[in-house]
Amino acid sequence: MRVPKRVKIVEVGPRDGLQNESMIVPTDVKIELINRLSATGLSAIESTSFVSPKWVPQMADNAQVMLGITRRPGVSYPVLVPGMQGFEAAVAAGATEIAVFGAASEAFSQRNINCSIAESLERFSPVMAAARQRNIKVRGYVSCVLGCPYQGDVPPETVAQVALRLLEMGCYEISLGDTIGFATPAKAQAMVKKVAAVVPRYRLAVHFHDTYGQALANILAVLELGISVVDSSVAGLGGCPYAKGAAGNVASEDLLCMLNGMGIETGVDLTGLVAAGLYISSFLGRPSGSKVARALGPKIALEANADLF
Ligand code: HMG
Ligand code: MG
Repeated sequence: MRVPKRVKIVEVGPRDGLQNESMIVPTDVKIELINRLSATGLSAIESTSFVSPKWVPQMADNAQVMLGITRRPGVSYPVLVPGMQGFEAAVAAGATEIAVFGAASEAFSQRNINCSIAESLERFSPVMAAARQRNIKVRGYVSCVLGCPYQGDVPPETVAQVALRLLEMGCYEISLGDTIGFATPAKAQAMVKKVAAVVPRYRLAVHFHDTYGQALANILAVLELGISVVDSSVAGLGGCPYAKGAAGNVASEDLLCMLNGMGIETGVDLTGLVAAGLYISSFLGRPSGSKVARALGPKIALEANADLF
């Protein structure tokens, strides 16, 4: 089996995870989580989103989070930005990398960001220009790449078109989001092949939610196609407030365990990652969504989170 020698893990738990919690997690807990994740060797930690607090109250403390974290050299802390208002606020809070987020489903685009796919791309255009001027890197998301909770099937051709537009607008990487976790490995491969026909593979990332327990299998299937950037969420946190029923992302700990077992380099320390996941799970008052964390947890919890016990 041919797979990449090295995989970049993009940790999205503090954003994708905590945006979906019914309780509002206090700012200092978010900051502590991000600081703990920063110490594990991760090179990208999506930290918050600069969206409307009326739409996603869980992310209303975005500026305090960005101003409160301890930034490590070599680690980027991207934030979601839907338009210019969010961009200005993100820059004011010191963001140096952002992510714009579009969709391959018209119905989801309307529900999530209140505009059509074409309108969303228009809104991103001034954001891209302003980001270029300030040397801010921009990642692009395409949601619902393997199905939509409102619309059902999503043609891979539409995914490819939106991904290509984001690339042409200047996104350095396009993350393909299986927002509700509908993917199975063969479908994931077919979709990635369609997109890779127009967007170079090294510009693609995958973002699998694990609603049906297929995420690791899907990741393995697309690693075989040469995809080498994978989004995941510590403790398997996550979901999307505008995609009811979606479970969390693939757990970062479980992803890392699989990659370690295959001899694929990531630069990330499993013990530290499990400990960070136990920290947030203990705060949320429920077991970690990571099977690896549940298996290794009791030992690591005592060592790394001694202050909690
Ligand atoms: P809208 O209501 O159409 O826009 O929302 P608006 O311009 O009329 O703004 C409404 C109000 O929000 C105004 O305030 C604005 O000032 C304010 P008012 O005048 O009523 O007092 N506002 C903002 N405030 C703070 N920060 C901002 C901002 N923008 C407007 N940035 C909008 C349009 C896009 C803002 C809204 O729909 C929104 O915030 N949506 C965010 C939805 C979201 O965050 N979803 C989850 C993330 S996506 C995801 O999880 C998928 C992903 O993980 C990949 C995958 O899994 O597929 C990325
Ligand atoms: Mg997501």
